[in-house]
Amino acid sequence: MNTFSIRDIHADKVSLGTHTFSGWVRTHRQSKNVCFIELNDGTAVKGLQLVIAPDLTSYAAVAAQVSTGASITVRGELVTSPAKGQRFEFQVKEFELIGEADPETYPLQKKGHTLEFLREILHLRPRSNTIGAVWRVRSRAAFAVHQFFQDRGFIYMQTPIITASDAEGAGEMFRVTTLDLQNIPLTTEGGGKHVDFQQDFFKAEASLTVSGQLEGEIAATALSKIYTFGPTFRAENSNTARHLSEFWMIEPEMAFFDLNDNRALAEDFVRYVISDLLVNCEEELHFLHEREWVEKGTMDTLRQVATAKFETLDYTDAISILEKCNKKFEFPVKWGIDLQSEHERFLTDEYIKGPVVVMNYPKAIKAFYMRVNEDQKTVRAMDVLAPRLGEIIGGSQREERHDVLLARIREMGLPEQNYWWYLELRKFGTVPHAGFGLGFERLLMYVTGMQNIRDVIPFPRYPGYAKF
Ligand code: 4AD
Ligand code: MG
Repeated sequence: MNTFSIRDIHADKVSLGTHTFSGWVRTHRQSKNVCFIELNDGTAVKGLQLVIAPDLTSYAAVAAQVSTGASITVRGELVTSPAKGQRFEFQVKEFELIGEADPETYPLQKKGHTLEFLREILHLRPRSNTIGAVWRVRSRAAFAVHQFFQDRGFIYMQTPIITASDAEGAGEMFRVTTLDLQNIPLTTEGGGKHVDFQQDFFKAEASLTVSGQLEGEIAATALSKIYTFGPTFRAENSNTARHLSEFWMIEPEMAFFDLNDNRALAEDFVRYVISDLLVNCEEELHFLHEREWVEKGTMDTLRQVATAKFETLDYTDAISILEKCNKKFEFPVKWGIDLQSEHERFLTDEYIKGPVVVMNYPKAIKAFYMRVNEDQKTVRAMDVLAPRLGEIIGGSQREERHDVLLARIREMGLPEQNYWWYLELRKFGTVPHAGFGLGFERLLMYVTGMQNIRDVIPFPRYPGYAKF
């Protein structure tokens, strides 16, 4: 094991002198007189330039063995570099080939590869500079998420992945079963012929969770301020660049918070994570923002977002802005519609020119748990919309009045018996409370400038695709 990483060198944590480094060969150039290797250990965008002089005893053998993708360990001297464009280079004294990579078959050659091609080789794609940088940003972002909530006294809680309730009431759940699909047991008990879940593993219908919110509410109505951070699953057939079937969500839930408190927290949270990444992933963000698919000025935009207050719009006002804007939308605008991405993009990219929080949506298009407003037509919902992307956060103040909630569940035709415990939270010491869910990958897209959500999660799952 080596003491230092290549990232440490660029961060000036390594003194000049004798060291050992290991990693993978990114590029190599050789002549009779010298061999240059760019070594990368996956800790930074920039690698370490190795210089191998022919006086190395095994020079000929080394020169013959080196190829892109091979793993090596080198011992030698870290020195300041005479060459332009790099501060350090490494003069190799001992060279060890750890694992070869046949240049005939190794798929990642020096020339750039398309992101589509990289999605075909998920096992090698983190060795590309782009995906490697995204993975490092992702790791740091997760840390910043925890730091934000921990610093503010929130309790981190883990909600179940296998669940018996549909948290969004939208019926987009993946089933969990051990029943023999060739021979599903049926029963007529209770009328009609249906699957006999008594014979299934849990003796009940079970699914993968679409959200940890409902369990989060259990925690918040006991511990006051909590957050979850885990995988969620949606069997919606959305084959878009912004949807995954498995994605990660951060869901804070706070007792004694109203919608405005919730909105303020959501803004602080987004600003905090972006500010942290601007400092701690500076090299990665610079590199990613230089990719050809990223709009110029993205770094400046992020810096602005990290400091400015978000604009807020009432849904009803957003609708009149859209009606009056004289733009031809594919989906016609009228009060009551769910905002489509073309509408969201007009609001963020053209009207506000920044993130916007839309509040108080019609109740007919939102989930059963949102608190009904005095007008009886709208609910205390809020969506945070980001430029280019649309919704990155969805949240609300929750319906804390038992009878109103029960009426909503019935009105929407949801299976009342599944929500008995959720209703009981409103019977025993109910409190106003609120929360939201941030799609972790949507935030990463926003920060990194990646255009497809499939490139910001290590192993994407989407309709028709679940590799590895
Ligand atoms: O708006 P959603 O469906 O809200 C909830 O799940 C609530 N239970 C959250 C809460 O109030 N605790 O989802 C929240 C966020 C969205 O704003 C979006 O960023 C992300 O999750 N999201 C997805 N991300 C990737 N792929 C999908 N299929 C997503 N669906 C939602
Ligand atoms: Mg939503």
